[in-house]
Amino acid sequence: MDRSRRDFVKASAALVGAGAALPEPFGAAARAAAVPQETTLFRAPPMERVRIGFVGVGGQGSSHVENLLTLDGVDIKAICDIVPEKVSAWQEKIRALGRPVPVAYTRGPRDFERMCAEEELDLVFNATPWEWHVPIALAAMKHGKHSASEVPIAYTVDDCWALVETAEKERRHCVMMENCCYDRLEMLALHLARKGLLGDLLHGECGYNHDLRGVKFSTEGEGLWRRAHATRRNGNLYPTHGLGPVAQAMSINRGNQFDTMVSMSSASRGLQLWQQEHLAADDPRRSERYVLGDVNVSLIRTMLDQTIYVSHDTNSPRPYSRKYVLQGTRGLVEGWPRRVYVEGMSAKDDQWDPADKWFATHDHPLWTSEKVRKASVGHGGMDWLEDWRLVNCLREGLPTDQNVYDGCAISVIGPLSEWSVANGSRPVRVPDFTRGRWRTTEPLGIVEG
Ligand SMILES: NC(=O)c1ccc[n+]([C@@H]2O[C@H](COP(=O)([O-])OP(=O)(O)OC[C@H]3O[C@@H](n4cnc5c(N)ncnc54)[C@H](O)[C@@H]3O)[C@@H](O)[C@H]2O)c1
Repeated sequence: MDRSRRDFVKASAALVGAGAALPEPFGAAARAAAVPQETTLFRAPPMERVRIGFVGVGGQGSSHVENLLTLDGVDIKAICDIVPEKVSAWQEKIRALGRPVPVAYTRGPRDFERMCAEEELDLVFNATPWEWHVPIALAAMKHGKHSASEVPIAYTVDDCWALVETAEKERRHCVMMENCCYDRLEMLALHLARKGLLGDLLHGECGYNHDLRGVKFSTEGEGLWRRAHATRRNGNLYPTHGLGPVAQAMSINRGNQFDTMVSMSSASRGLQLWQQEHLAADDPRRSERYVLGDVNVSLIRTMLDQTIYVSHDTNSPRPYSRKYVLQGTRGLVEGWPRRVYVEGMSAKDDQWDPADKWFATHDHPLWTSEKVRKASVGHGGMDWLEDWRLVNCLREGLPTDQNVYDGCAISVIGPLSEWSVANGSRPVRVPDFTRGRWRTTEPLGIVEG
């Protein structure tokens, strides 16, 4: 063995040894109990129509309901929200469409439990504040319904395990609705990666960089609940929009797995500044104190020795960006601005092609549909596409594009980042919710529509 090879093997062995000693602060190893299924790609029997109970018709929930009403084979049977006027407004809109009026569930924050118990539903879809995603998903599955939940699917490690264990026990889908996996650029990148045009994937960059100061201090919508997280949590609170598509391209849970991560946060200033500069002198919110670092940076290493940078910045003045880089041995795709470089295929050496050139030749097949490109609700085509794919998979009895393991793997980066930040940015092992089955699960291919 030559010297460099011998050094590499020695170094790798040392790394494996060091890795084995990494903290698993949430007892992940202890969870590696009996694994009920051979593969992580769960299928449920096909269904003619999908009967949906929708929980939380605020900003994002209303977009989903609007999209779902455009799809064949969907019945909105019940709508639940703590604000009765929001439910009655949707009942009126649905009545005006000449469709059966959904039953209202508006008797407080746990009325979704009554809905799950009383209604014959196939799917409970929730777009509620973060603290409600897990109770609603668990109630749905325990009553024999599939669950779809807005992002993040959970924000504690224990809750992730509860979702995984319940989905396995009840044999129900538990999907996190990560719409950014369906955006055009991210799907172009997935397409190029699957065709091998980017070579072997090495690195991803992504994030959620969105000035939400005004939203967090609003007296309606997310202002009623999102700012509170900044008073008690410091980390990467919203990792899934950026990480979802990168994880999908890198086949996390399907041939690959997150291994370890580290995280660090900047000082917490943005919300304090906003509070002092925008709120009236007698506004009680002026006395709130925040711990959420304005900028969080987390780094993840995968089992295939890839690196991923994940940022979170929602407290600073800045234009929106999810950053997005997917780098392989032959080229890369970037977002914000959208551009592509593939060695030997791009117009000029060392120079970006505009993404439009690549959309013209390598668009993901699902994005070639006029219906997707013209969808205007919510975040446009990507939200419509994710709702259509979910309904389509349920109707056809297919595995969903994202499953409980995917939702938990990318959501758990949130609580792990909090742990790492609180522990001097120490590395932490990422739990394997598949308990080894990632090795034998096939990657998500290129779905034709
Ligand atoms: N994927 C995306 O692009 C995207 C965009 C925005 C929000 N979101 C996610 O969607 C979720 C909702 O965000 P939003 O912006 O719509 O917030 P919102 O505050 O506008 O809507 C939340 C709704 O849930 C209702 N609600 C609260 N507690 C409830 C309970 N216990 N039972 C029933 N209803 C309840 C509220 O009355 C409100 O109508 C969050 O998880 C957020 O992270 C995702």
